[in-house]
Amino acid sequence: MYNNWEDLEKSIVGCKKCRLCDNRNNIVFGEGNKQAKLMFVGEGPGADEDRLGQPFVGKAGQLMNKAFAGLDIDRSKVYITNIVKCRPPSNRVPQDDEAVACLDYLRNQVILVRPKIIVLLGSTALKNILGKDYSITKQRGKWMEHKGIMYMPTWHPAALLRDETKKIEFWNDLKEVKIKYDQLEEN
Ligand code: URA
Repeated sequence: MYNNWEDLEKSIVGCKKCRLCDNRNNIVFGEGNKQAKLMFVGEGPGADEDRLGQPFVGKAGQLMNKAFAGLDIDRSKVYITNIVKCRPPSNRVPQDDEAVACLDYLRNQVILVRPKIIVLLGSTALKNILGKDYSITKQRGKWMEHKGIMYMPTWHPAALLRDETKKIEFWNDLKEVKIKYDQLEEN
């Protein structure tokens, strides 16, 4: 583990820990406020993210931006990253060994950011961070506490694009997050 961003960011340059390095154009490390109280973790970069090197800048990102605007959350004040930092081919779900290979980067990001709240966007984030036995269908919308961090699992924004009925649940979950986030900002 690195105790500063410079060393951590240097350590990922040219990463070849897993096969996802073969087809990537850019490593999508993460972005935002490095002292954010609120962090979002998605699954892995898509085509737009791979092209630009930034998380959530494609269709799913546009949905996130709408939610941020609706909830008055300033995107530049939160930290956004993914379970895997390189795009899985055809946007498939990252395989277990790929996620495992990449997870130390995320652990280190969490240690350095020290968020109070982490929003887990979808099943891949939930299972890789809190445990394989959890199901996003059962856990979404329920706060979970682990080692002093509050976790809110919710739908991945891409799931909303496939199934409109999930939008209201996503919105309600993020509203809960916003309430807790505002309480933190007051203190
Ligand atoms: N989907 C994700 O999980 N992460 C991104 O950065 C973009 C889309």
